Amino acid sequence: MIKVSDGVFELSTNNTTYAFVAGENGELLHLYYGKKIDLTEGAVNALKQKWSNQNGCSIVWDPEKNLRCPDDEKTEVSAFGYGDTKEPLIKIRFADGSSASSFRFVKHEISDIKDVQYSYEAGSLPHSWDKDGGKEKALTLTLKEEATEVQIKLTYCVYEEADCITRSVTVYNSSGKDIVIEKCYSLQLDMDADAVKVSSFHGDWGREMDKCDVMLTGGAFVSGSAGGTSSNHSNPFVMYGEPAVSEEYGECYATNLVYSGNHRESAEFGGHGKLRILTGINPDFLGITLGTGAFFNSPEAVMTYSDTGYRGISRNMHYFVRHHIVRGTWQFKERPVLLNSWEAAYFKISEHKMLKLAKAAKSVGIELFVMDDGWFGHRDDDTTSLGDWYDHKEKLPGGIGDLSKKIKEMGLMFGIWVEPEMVSENSDLYRAHPDWAVQNPERKQALGRNQLILDLSKKAVQDYLIETMSDVFTRSNADYVKWDMNRNFSDYYSNGATPEGQRSLSHDYYLGLYRVMHVLTERFPNILFEGCASGGNRFDLGILSYFPQIWASDDTDAAARCTIQTGYSYGYPQSTWSAHVSASPNHQTLRHTPLDTRFAVASLGVFGYELNLCDLDDDALKEIAADVELYKGMRSVMQFGQYYRLGGTAVTSTVSGQQGFLGNRLDNALLKACIVSEDMKDAVGVLVNGTVRPNYSHTSFKFAGLDDNKTYHFANRPKKYDVRVMGDLVNTMAPVHVKQDSALHALIAKFIKLDGETEDYTLPGSVLNNAGVSLSQTYAGTGYGDNTRIYKDFEARMYLVSEKQ
Ligand code: DGJ
Repeated sequence: MIKVSDGVFELSTNNTTYAFVAGENGELLHLYYGKKIDLTEGAVNALKQKWSNQNGCSIVWDPEKNLRCPDDEKTEVSAFGYGDTKEPLIKIRFADGSSASSFRFVKHEISDIKDVQYSYEAGSLPHSWDKDGGKEKALTLTLKEEATEVQIKLTYCVYEEADCITRSVTVYNSSGKDIVIEKCYSLQLDMDADAVKVSSFHGDWGREMDKCDVMLTGGAFVSGSAGGTSSNHSNPFVMYGEPAVSEEYGECYATNLVYSGNHRESAEFGGHGKLRILTGINPDFLGITLGTGAFFNSPEAVMTYSDTGYRGISRNMHYFVRHHIVRGTWQFKERPVLLNSWEAAYFKISEHKMLKLAKAAKSVGIELFVMDDGWFGHRDDDTTSLGDWYDHKEKLPGGIGDLSKKIKEMGLMFGIWVEPEMVSENSDLYRAHPDWAVQNPERKQALGRNQLILDLSKKAVQDYLIETMSDVFTRSNADYVKWDMNRNFSDYYSNGATPEGQRSLSHDYYLGLYRVMHVLTERFPNILFEGCASGGNRFDLGILSYFPQIWASDDTDAAARCTIQTGYSYGYPQSTWSAHVSASPNHQTLRHTPLDTRFAVASLGVFGYELNLCDLDDDALKEIAADVELYKGMRSVMQFGQYYRLGGTAVTSTVSGQQGFLGNRLDNALLKACIVSEDMKDAVGVLVNGTVRPNYSHTSFKFAGLDDNKTYHFANRPKKYDVRVMGDLVNTMAPVHVKQDSALHALIAKFIKLDGETEDYTLPGSVLNNAGVSLSQTYAGTGYGDNTRIYKDFEARMYLVSEKQ
């Protein structure tokens, strides 16, 4: 709800209030953001900051009228050079070279969110959306710069059920002369605080989204990206909590940005116990010249508040992303179980191999077959052919159309990999259009994965991509497309652009990319698109506005994935991060993990496989078939239920950002999580062991989010063990001596399986939520009985819960 009266602006969601007031000189002063309050007139007066004398060493602009010192105020718009020395929301260089500015409120307007959106058409920035048309409202404020007449518009979209509010800034150059936008963040949030625990998510290729915490009590925290993508170094999602904030406790704010390029987030203390949070485009990549009459839109940013720690933040962000970012056919449609050819075959693909793999996939119940890299041009490794999107005739004599037809005839869907934004030097496209690459002819060109970036700021390049990709999607009759992007930006040079135009290349690139994505997703509404950038090098709300899911990481190791996926879970729902079961030893870490651990961990995200099924033995294929069947039965819960982090070292990052695989002393878990269906009738819990510590054998599994008043059936997924798991301990039971790993050992293993423990209870939700089930004792070297829980390094358990009628 948005309420405006007597210059007071009140934005409320189901559980939060955001309020500010227009002061007598038109300055917008921030009053409050937090838990919902009753904002009576008396409350507004009580919230306003009082002034009776100036602060020492502070700037005062209008001492005759009032004594306000801008560096000791909370505002909605901070501008450069106006007495507030913290980093400002906006910094403009005017025609006379000066940058000091001050923006004053002129008018406001309340509209439906859909009416705000139409200024964000194709070729412009993605924006949150309101599926129900007029339900959610937006507030737009117009402000004018005192001396130059430059105008800005602040737009706030209020999403009540999500408990999220978005903000963006538009600058209109109505000054009559050119101006330069040096800084234009999307969101500014000022608050009173003397300490803040900032949690941000960092990493690199293969280890995205490590939660890193810093306690800030003065000065500034800065995070962001400069490599041209939202990046695996620093995700734009950041949380700001009270010092004691934890998973379930404490006040916390979070912000994110609907943008895929270079971004920056900061939290900065001034000298008066005022904290400023900013998020937006990295100013190093602005400096954009705006001619008179032109405008500049900042990307949209989103903020949320929780008084129940990170859990509340995740609930709100998940809801917001599911309902107001993801859109199209697949928004709430169950995603098929897929098999991707990459880790099964890499570049060594052929029609014969693909069909064999697809047949094996079909036999275990997989629904979608995806042919990854290597199918086009002369692509036999990563040095060639990007840009040449015609069939590799030696590998696919009948082309992608023919392969797709054959795969569809097997009863599978067909998906294809593309990397449209790139060009190889060794390609027909590059030979024809060297000026289409982002490269400076005056410099030696830097390469990443042997390739160059196509200059999507150019309309001709955008049009070429739209047409070639339309052709690929049509020829292959694709049901699914994996859209990859495998290098960071360097050089930042657009051939033929003016010196001013060079400044805006990295932003214009994204305007171009968004246009291409917009046109293609409109043209092919039924294709399930999956974003990818060497895994999670571009995992953000901009991409998710077009593609409902993103490949979370090239690291498919189940143990490493516990940390990576837990990182994503803070800000992004599990329906957006895809996760695959791959080979053991894992290709990135060479770690061995059991197949059912790989299943349990991958089932927490958008689930699929990425290994050579043709090389697996019958036992493994049977196990996979059973896993796929189980997954299909619980798929709607797994993909669209509420995800809860329940513990494990993947959650407990320390102030230094260190996380370990060892497991904590309480339960030795690497990951402990559950997903609960929206109607609270079904849930699935997953527990993954760290490395074994003997004699820590008791733990319980406590759920979250179930209905205290419902009765549930709780059971573990039964397990059977190969006797060889016990090694030569077989001799403690065998009547004759068995040499470990001998033929006799194998024969015994063929006929005798060890039963795993059984956990089976009917329990009130209140018990599962608050007390939990005390699990069977683990094996710890002192004996093995009927209900011993064999629980080796990186082993997992799945607990299935459903309402008892
Ligand atoms: C990087 C992706 O993240 C991988 O999954 C795979 O598609 C390769 N590119 C193919 O080159």
